Amino acid sequence: MLKLNQYLLLFICLISFISTSSSRPEPFALRISCGSRTNIQTPPTKTIWYKDFAYTGGRPANATRSSYITPPLKTLRYFPLSDGPENCYNIHRVPKGHYLVRIFFGLVKDPNFDNEPLFDVSIQGTLIYSLDSGWSQIEDQSFTEALVFVTDGYVSACFHSTGHGDPAILSIEILQIDDKAYYFGTNWGQGVILRTAKRLSCGTGKPAFDEDYNGDHWGGDRFWSEIKTFGESSDNAISTENKISKASVSPNFYPEKLYRTALVSTDSEPDLGYTIDVYPNRNYSIWLHFAEIDSRITGEGQRVFDILINGDIAFEDIDVMKMSGDRYAALVLNKTVAVNGRSLAITLHPTTGHYAIINAIEIFEIIPAESRTAAQEVRALETLKNSLGLPLRLGWNGDPCVPQQHPWSGVDCQLDKKGGTWVIDGLGLDNQGLRGFLPNDISKLQHLQSINLSGNSIHGAIPSSLGTITSLETLDLSFNLFNGSIPESLGGLTILRRLNLNSNFLSGRVPPALGGRLLHRASYNFTTNAGLCGIPGLRSCGPHLTTGAKIGIAFGVFFAFLLIVIGSICWWKRRQNILRSQRIAAREAPYAKARTHFVRDVQMARHHGQDNTRTATENGPTLLS
Ligand SMILES: *[C@@H]1O[C@H](CO)[C@@H](O)[C@H](O)[C@H]1NC(C)=O
Ligand SMILES: *[C@@H]1O[C@H](CO)[C@@H](O)[C@H](O)[C@H]1NC(C)=O
Ligand SMILES: *[C@@H]1O[C@H](CO)[C@@H](O)[C@H](O)[C@H]1NC(C)=O
Ligand SMILES: *[C@@H]1O[C@H](CO)[C@@H](O)[C@H](O)[C@H]1NC(C)=O
Ligand SMILES: *[C@@H]1O[C@H](CO)[C@@H](O)[C@H](O)[C@H]1NC(C)=O
Ligand SMILES: *[C@@H]1O[C@H](CO)[C@@H](O)[C@H](O)[C@H]1NC(C)=O
Repeated sequence: MLKLNQYLLLFICLISFISTSSSRPEPFALRISCGSRTNIQTPPTKTIWYKDFAYTGGRPANATRSSYITPPLKTLRYFPLSDGPENCYNIHRVPKGHYLVRIFFGLVKDPNFDNEPLFDVSIQGTLIYSLDSGWSQIEDQSFTEALVFVTDGYVSACFHSTGHGDPAILSIEILQIDDKAYYFGTNWGQGVILRTAKRLSCGTGKPAFDEDYNGDHWGGDRFWSEIKTFGESSDNAISTENKISKASVSPNFYPEKLYRTALVSTDSEPDLGYTIDVYPNRNYSIWLHFAEIDSRITGEGQRVFDILINGDIAFEDIDVMKMSGDRYAALVLNKTVAVNGRSLAITLHPTTGHYAIINAIEIFEIIPAESRTAAQEVRALETLKNSLGLPLRLGWNGDPCVPQQHPWSGVDCQLDKKGGTWVIDGLGLDNQGLRGFLPNDISKLQHLQSINLSGNSIHGAIPSSLGTITSLETLDLSFNLFNGSIPESLGGLTILRRLNLNSNFLSGRVPPALGGRLLHRASYNFTTNAGLCGIPGLRSCGPHLTTGAKIGIAFGVFFAFLLIVIGSICWWKRRQNILRSQRIAAREAPYAKARTHFVRDVQMARHHGQDNTRTATENGPTLLS
């Protein structure tokens, strides 16, 4: 068995649920300080970060903080490419639910490290983020965050090398949020993942976490970037110390303080506009936050504006006070849009009064969640990985088929439309220095069309279960150390087109079912083995004999030999006697002749009586001795 090196398993016994209010328990929260040997509490909130010392992949190192919003953690874990391009944290025992998963990246504190690695991040098998160069200089790019549903008890976060440095991870947070959090209507749910593209608190110069704002824990401790202005003198920042109502409500539990600052347009520029760069051809969910905190507005109808997204009216006649029901009351609007270009522009255009207002903006990229690989096939590949002693550099970690951009090397996948899962239809592990044996469980990969394990050092028998993979068209086990005979079951591979078993140590008869059909339909190579027989081009096998038959034949041969020996001795003796009697006859012929005649007479006489005497006749010569 291979050590679980690389495949990072974390079994964390669960964090106690401390009930602060009787109405609702605390949400599940798990924070991991990567590369740490001890659990850590960070100021000022005494947040607990669990060590990941039980992990067996990657390497721990000291970290430099890439930005001052990163948690004050001193260590990280990085994943050298030599250990494989795919590395994952699989965090088990996470209760079913809706989660905010946040991953902070780090920089290894070592002058020899080419700083700022660029890599891809996937959560639950879906690629959610590719780091952009310069990320370590930009506060809200030193982490990525996604809202995901956990249905099968674990969170899998994987880091995929792209050839630009070793992925280095500072922390992973798994924070439960409301099941309906960020519900935006149709298409929301388990089939999509929301990646936070931007989260802005308007009119403030200080970034903050929900925690800093004393936000409800069910909000997921969001990070709010600061924005003091959308552009030179186009707006003014305003703020209030008043209480804000309706902020911390289900399902999103926004912190009240978020609504105490805002940006309003100036006299010179009534429109308020914000633009960010986005990835083209994706869908975005946009959440806009308002509270009427401007002392100049005292009643409904005094401030009305339209909201345009990329020039299209998304909301018409927004009157914050009217819609929220009061001054100092929160209003949240959300809209889903498809964006074709590379930018997303939000414009607030006053229709009554001169000044638009906005308190906060959230923009999520809507990412279709990938289907996973069928669990049985994943298990079969894990077995294969162990029994073949797969080298680390192949990095079989995480899901074999997804993210589609980073499948396991040597594994070909196909989406099984019926089951809605990925299945394996090809294994191409030729010339990979594999040394183990081929397990019977390979037959659990029932969708395989092609297997190429040529040019390795795989030993032992060809598993007979291979014959049950009836979709197999190509089977190349050549240039290995396979021994024993070719299993009869391979005759069941009725659509096989290529079979290479050459250069192994196979012996015995090629199964007739295989030989007969192959000769017509497929190309094959059985040469250079220990002793295969039974099809043209190989020697013929002779009759098929059981052990019993072989023993029988051995005895038969032995007795035949014995008979021949005895027979020869008798013949020789008789010949000697005849020669001797001829010599005697030469001396006393009458006597001998008489005797001879006598015998013959007796014989003739007796012939008419009892047969018994024939023995005497045949033994006649002995009478003479
Ligand atoms: C990390 O830093 C500590 C001192 O702060 C040092 O003792 C330790 O050896 C360093 N670890 C590594 C892996 O460099
Ligand atoms: C988002 O907007 C949709 C309608 O556009 C609405 O049905 C949904 O309740 C809103 N979500 C939240 C959490 O307010
Ligand atoms: C965006 O949403 C539309 C409709 O909901 C959907 O048809 C389309 O595939 C989505 N596009 C992307 C890139 O997810
Ligand atoms: C299997 O791989 C070997 C080595 O890469 C290659 O020569 C051979 O053609 C492949 N076999 C099949 C059936 O494609
Ligand atoms: C095949 O080789 C293995 C060692 O690799 C040996 O234990 C086994 O007996 C061999 N089987 C046959 C049928 O020769
Ligand atoms: C069969 O395999 C042997 C080596 O094992 C090779 O020399 C030979 O060319 C192959 N024959 C065909 C027809 O590919």
